Amino acid sequence: MSGDSTDDSDVAQGEETVVRRDRFSGGPAREFLSSLAGDERIFTADLAVDRAHVVMLAEQEIISDEEAGWILDALADVENAGHGDLSGGEDVHEAIESAVIDRIGPDGGKMHTARSRNDEVAACIRYRLRADLLEAIETTLALREALIDAAAEHTDTLMPGYTHLQPAQPITVGHFLMSYASTISRDTARLLDAYDRTNESPLGGAAFAGTPFDIDRERTAALLGFDRVVDNSMDASSARDFLAEATAALAIHATTLSGLAEDIVIFANKGYIDLSDDYSSTSSIMPQKKNPDTLELTRAVAGDATGELTGLLTTLKGLPQAYNRDLQRAHPHTFRAVDAVVEASAVAAGAVSTASWNEKLLADEAGAGFSTATGIADLLAMAGLPFRTAHEVVALAAEEAEDRDTGVSAALLDSATEDVLGESLFKYVDEQAVAAALDPAQSVESRDSQGGPATAAVESTIAGARETLADDSDALADRQAALDEAETTLAKEVDQYV
Ligand code: ARG
Repeated sequence: MSGDSTDDSDVAQGEETVVRRDRFSGGPAREFLSSLAGDERIFTADLAVDRAHVVMLAEQEIISDEEAGWILDALADVENAGHGDLSGGEDVHEAIESAVIDRIGPDGGKMHTARSRNDEVAACIRYRLRADLLEAIETTLALREALIDAAAEHTDTLMPGYTHLQPAQPITVGHFLMSYASTISRDTARLLDAYDRTNESPLGGAAFAGTPFDIDRERTAALLGFDRVVDNSMDASSARDFLAEATAALAIHATTLSGLAEDIVIFANKGYIDLSDDYSSTSSIMPQKKNPDTLELTRAVAGDATGELTGLLTTLKGLPQAYNRDLQRAHPHTFRAVDAVVEASAVAAGAVSTASWNEKLLADEAGAGFSTATGIADLLAMAGLPFRTAHEVVALAAEEAEDRDTGVSAALLDSATEDVLGESLFKYVDEQAVAAALDPAQSVESRDSQGGPATAAVESTIAGARETLADDSDALADRQAALDEAETTLAKEVDQYV
């Protein structure tokens, strides 16, 4: 049985829609074959694709203006009735065509001239996904703005910085928040890239092997706001790498979110951060509990998105050219991923912008675990000691402090220097410099290299991030405007026939 023979047999007989494909899809596997319910997501997209195709067919004189008018009228009526009114057929494409034929008779079947459901569904999912991707991009921009705004309020709020979850070096809350703003700017860039490769028109590829009709592929692409045509008809109708790319970009963003969520959960546990009640839950039994559930769910969305990506790639792997029905189960992965990730990203933005940071506790903890040790070693290295020797001196002092259960002092450092070098610490540095290096606030301010935690460095990071954010918002607005313009043009063209 050739799958495409079902496509070629859209024959309406008389008043009621009797299509020969019923011979193949009316049996016990009917439900299994059908994508009609899930196709609700591409209902509006399909109407747009139908309209652009019909306008092009009329312009190319493949159908008459009058026939185009009838079909376009019927499509408006189908749209008003809504997806829920559709019945019959394996999917939204057949169901809409049947609904058009029901309204205007066999001439409705001319809508399917010079195309197949294969290029049609590919156009529909690209059309729909680009709107979803624009929403995802917008959400990443809002999250970046929330992070940047919070960072700007905390450019000098000290906090302990960690590696291996162990206190490492003091930093500021602003520096920490900007680390995520910076990662997420790349998440935005990946989504923009995925958008640009999604926004290409497969229409006119037909089943996979083109069509003898004198169609104008550039015209349907322009009417639908696609940036260009996917040239090869086999590639056009069956390629789904745009889904893989979009889903991967979403899964990567979800992974970024999971790290941010995990940090916030840990900081909430330590009392460093207080989530707003709006982003917390309580326990049904323990009345005192305030739990960071929203962030825990955000963290879990990385699992959903990665699962969808894995499911999608596994579905696509090893598919021969060209269209295979497996593809019907491909795009739902991406739609589920985009819904989950957009929701999580928006929640993360809300949680970040409404949280408060416990500045006093953070400052007290900023120097914990001799986190200024690296700064002392840097100081000795700046005075001319090889860094490795300086490291040895400071490590010895740290060990001694641990044994005595005290903090590291200038005196301890001095005796460690004597032990390692047989010389006094103060031959290299003065007491004031040692005290400054031991102080978390001064330690932070000393690290003013580009991208570092010093206030001025973070302020400059923030300024750069605001510029990139503005550029990315422009990129989003340009794409949205192009889609809006195409929608208006298509509506005007349609009006000429109805
Ligand atoms: N519902 C199908 C899908 O989502 C549409 C294309 C069906 N084409 C075919 N030759 N059976 O992929």
